[in-house]
Amino acid sequence: MSEQALVRFDVEDGIGVITVDNPPVNALSPGVPEGIIAALEHGEADPGVKAMVLMGAGRSFIAGADIRQFGKPRAAPARRTYDVLDQGSKPIVAAIHGFALGGGLENALACHYRIAVPSAKVGLPEVLIGILPGGGGTQRLPRLIGPKAAMEMIVSGRHVAAAEAKTLGIVDEVVEGKDLRKEAVAYARGIAERRPLPRVRDMSERLAEAKADPGMFEAMRKSIARKARNQIAPYHCIAAVEAAVSEPFDEGVKTERRLFAELENSDQARGLRYAFFAEREVSKIPDLPKDAPLPEIKSVAVIGAGTMGGGIAMCFADFGMSVKVLEASAEAMAKGLQRVRDNYATSVKRGSLKQGEMDKRLPRIQAVESYEAIADCDLVIEAVFEEMEVKKQVFERLDAVMKPGALLYTNSSALDIDAIAAVTRRPELVAGTHFFSPANVMKLLEVVVGKKSSPTTIATAMKLGRSIGKIAAWAGNTDGFVANRSRAPMVTESNLMIEEGAAPEDVDKVMVDFGYPMGPFAVGDLAGLDISYASRRRRAAADPNYRKLPIPDRLVELGRKGQKTGAGWYRYEPGDRTPRPDPEVKRVIQEVAKEMGIAQRAFTPEEILRRLLFASVNEACKIVEEGKALRASDVDVMWLHGFGFPRYRGGLMFWADQIGSKAVYDQIETWHQRYGARWRPSNLLRAVAQKGGQLREIKAAGV
Ligand code: 3HC
Repeated sequence: MSEQALVRFDVEDGIGVITVDNPPVNALSPGVPEGIIAALEHGEADPGVKAMVLMGAGRSFIAGADIRQFGKPRAAPARRTYDVLDQGSKPIVAAIHGFALGGGLENALACHYRIAVPSAKVGLPEVLIGILPGGGGTQRLPRLIGPKAAMEMIVSGRHVAAAEAKTLGIVDEVVEGKDLRKEAVAYARGIAERRPLPRVRDMSERLAEAKADPGMFEAMRKSIARKARNQIAPYHCIAAVEAAVSEPFDEGVKTERRLFAELENSDQARGLRYAFFAEREVSKIPDLPKDAPLPEIKSVAVIGAGTMGGGIAMCFADFGMSVKVLEASAEAMAKGLQRVRDNYATSVKRGSLKQGEMDKRLPRIQAVESYEAIADCDLVIEAVFEEMEVKKQVFERLDAVMKPGALLYTNSSALDIDAIAAVTRRPELVAGTHFFSPANVMKLLEVVVGKKSSPTTIATAMKLGRSIGKIAAWAGNTDGFVANRSRAPMVTESNLMIEEGAAPEDVDKVMVDFGYPMGPFAVGDLAGLDISYASRRRRAAADPNYRKLPIPDRLVELGRKGQKTGAGWYRYEPGDRTPRPDPEVKRVIQEVAKEMGIAQRAFTPEEILRRLLFASVNEACKIVEEGKALRASDVDVMWLHGFGFPRYRGGLMFWADQIGSKAVYDQIETWHQRYGARWRPSNLLRAVAQKGGQLREIKAAGV
């Protein structure tokens, strides 16, 4: 594409209008900055041009640098747009609609004036991809809005809506008119003669705020310590803003560039960039064109007001949709609604939700008393007790009462979707929508595809997920579907390592150091050990070869069901959620190991980590090989949003690639020899390892 096409320049009413046109989001891909510079020079040289406007075509201003270019070798540009904007002699107005993010906002900050439509959003989200604003943003924003507010925006990476941007001082005016170009040209004419040009780089007044509050940087470091644990970029962001205060502008820009260069090719930035694109890839499903028409969903029902059903209903209410909820008894309904109210009330108490917002959301959840009351809904999500017979009864009933064409989804976390669909006369309209607990918080939604589910049924569930803020991922109908099936071997290995002599607190420490918010045993205590106990019982009854896990079984039989009973893998003081290692657990472990004749030994942190995660890497390869997941990168997205895998490590498969597919395979093969069948390497893993390929790139056949 020629530079001409990426950036246009035309003159209207004495105003030079520079329009960036690089769909879909006007990223600053190669050619765009050059095009902007050429246009600026053109406008500067034309005596008929009194002022200029910088704007974007299509749905956005400029969403930032082209992320795909990071990590690739590239020459430093001869001139940067920011410098050319600064050096110009004619006023330039940035006219913002859609998004002005990263390098997009940085260009706007180098303009002399900024106007925005009410729906516009601005931000410096670079930290979210492991870098920092590298186009002067860390130097200009503090000069414009003060170091504290700038630091908060840069360290959080959040999007700021136009109204707030005006209050903060980022934009000069919010313009209401429908035609932004017309508004911008009029605005530019209004300021065309004004001198001197307000250049943000020359502003210094707001920087004095740091003199009055010199502890702000240290306070910021402290406040992010928990969330930003193990991460570099947030701290580099703070250091860059600190430089804005302590160094002259040009020196500060050099510091920013140095810090940026340290981050760009770091493992963390590569992991986060990978996660960004994997999250976009996961929404793409084969056999359905992106723009295929989907049924409009105007009314939704949820069956069951238990923990999951209530959480799912909250998802709809949170996104402004009404939802009808049906329960078997008035008592269960009252309990469920109370739980929802309590959840919202906790958020209000914590300050993450306004009371007024809670008052709007609650009435969107409407209790109904009969199937007939939901018959007209376009879509139902069943979230009743996880037992096949119960689910079948519900689906028979739904099939009988729901209007023709209504979509029927099940929130089962493990049951066979085909068996559920088979009791209906509309199996093509049945699929799984597997939410993760707590449903209103966790972002992952597995859309589970039955043999007969139609592409439209699947695509509608994916779209619905996105409309309630979820990351929806296609999953095959296999035991545990994709997320839980890929995680199960990790859970098994954590238990088996305990039998061999690793302490629960050692395993948890390794995983917390790795970046998880909690270790697997502490998570088990939080969830309740009785849940997995019951499912082990079911499995053992169904499969004579099932490998029992006597240690957690015995803990439950001793009444140690986790936090709720004050003891599980750890013990807990009343009213305190801190897990404390317990000699009683040690005794149980030793007792079981002795009975089973398992020798006790020490584990290194590396062995613990690899044994846990390699088991899952192997399983994930098998899942993709069987076509039950579309891509390895989908599994990564599931681990990020279903299980709290540290995002800056990209995901399970991305992490494994850092070790190398061959090294992973060799280790798995060694453990296969030592521990037997459960470590049988996946054929696909072997094939990728032999070629020295990347695990994160593997895909199911035909994808
Ligand atoms: N670079 C390259 N591609 C990008 C991109 C970017 N900055 N932003 C979005 N895209 C691509 C997406 O990959 C997607 O491609 P696909 O259709 O092939 O999958 C397409 O644009 C549409 O993106 P979304 O699906 O995300 O569209 P939404 O409308 O949901 O969201 C958005 C739009 C809010 C702009 C979102 O895409 C986003 O957050 N983008 C990243 C913004 C960002 O991080 N900017 C900073 C970049 S770093 C920088 O500027 C460095 C500078 O300081 C020097």
